[in-house]
Amino acid sequence: MKSGKNIKIISVGAAVQDVFLSHSDEFEPVSDRSAHEQFMKLELGAKADVNSITFSTGGGATNAAVTFTRQRLHAVFMGTIGDDPAGQAVLNDLDRENVDTSHVSYSDKYHTGYSVLLLAPTGERTILTYRGASTHYHAKYFDLSGVDGDWLYVSSMAGCFDVLDKLFTQAKRNGMKIMFNPGKRELAHPNKLKSLLDDVDVLSVNKEEMAHIVEGKTSEELVTHALNLVSVAIVSDGPNGVVASDGKTIVTAGMYQDVKVIDRTGAGDAFGSGFLSQWAQGKSLVDSIVFGSANSTSVVQHIGAKTGILHHDARLHHMPLHEKPVK
Ligand SMILES: Nc1ncnc2c1ncn2[C@@H]1O[C@H](COP(=O)(O)OP(=O)(O)OP(=O)(O)O)[C@@H](O)[C@H]1O
Ligand SMILES: [Mg+2]
Repeated sequence: MKSGKNIKIISVGAAVQDVFLSHSDEFEPVSDRSAHEQFMKLELGAKADVNSITFSTGGGATNAAVTFTRQRLHAVFMGTIGDDPAGQAVLNDLDRENVDTSHVSYSDKYHTGYSVLLLAPTGERTILTYRGASTHYHAKYFDLSGVDGDWLYVSSMAGCFDVLDKLFTQAKRNGMKIMFNPGKRELAHPNKLKSLLDDVDVLSVNKEEMAHIVEGKTSEELVTHALNLVSVAIVSDGPNGVVASDGKTIVTAGMYQDVKVIDRTGAGDAFGSGFLSQWAQGKSLVDSIVFGSANSTSVVQHIGAKTGILHHDARLHHMPLHEKPVK
């Protein structure tokens, strides 16, 4: 079994700059109804003071790549940015984190994806997002021929099924394993998505998303049904925890730690990439889930999707979970 730097993961998907504006009296949620029904009121023509700004970078694939390098694995980011300051910010972060950027491509039409996140004191947020180069992908820039790697980690490819098809076929030809965390635009086409799953080793999505792919009410039912499509299925459910199975055992895990959520951006990425950072090293299903949970719990306590990603020396603690054989 390979370990550490010898394990190479190609992380494919979005790269964006995230700018967080917070600590403003104007960012008070309006209405006392449930979080989903609240909204921020910004009056037209008003100038609202903001007392804190945080520049960071995101995009599922760059967040995942940083989890991998902080766990001392070799990570390559493959994605498209624009030739602009936001793209430079993405590259600077990746360089600082020792992520291999030799497979980054540049769009000649679109700017780098850019999000402005307005954080309310409650931890809820409103996001204004320009997707730009992170939605317009060209198959010619996504090529694994001649690329050796152990795993392909794919987050959303903005519904570009031609690119996904090409990558998955090449990955299998190269003997790479595939972990997939599809996004909204892949989930909008469940049949196309399912036809890709033949090549996928690990599928990780949240509960609502898995319900687009297979039938089932509980996370356990969803995971069990997903095992007909992939070898390892994972369903996360925010603070309620995770259910996962590798076909041999099924693990139900609760909350890693009850923490104050400052910003939940990147929680899903941190869980999925945290899981793979251990699974790729041959760790058990339980150990991989504990690490993914710890990683995402750390991420939600910081502003930005990368700040809280755990380092190699992080100390973990136990979490409530149980494991039983798959019937
Ligand atoms: N409020 C919370 N408190 C503690 N941990 C949390 C919370 N929300 C998320 N997490 C952690 O993050 C993991 C993934 O969260 P979730 O199931 O919400 O993923 P997701 O919906 O895919 O997220 P994303 O919107 O980032 O894609 C959870 O399994 C949990 O470990
Ligand atoms: Mg997600």
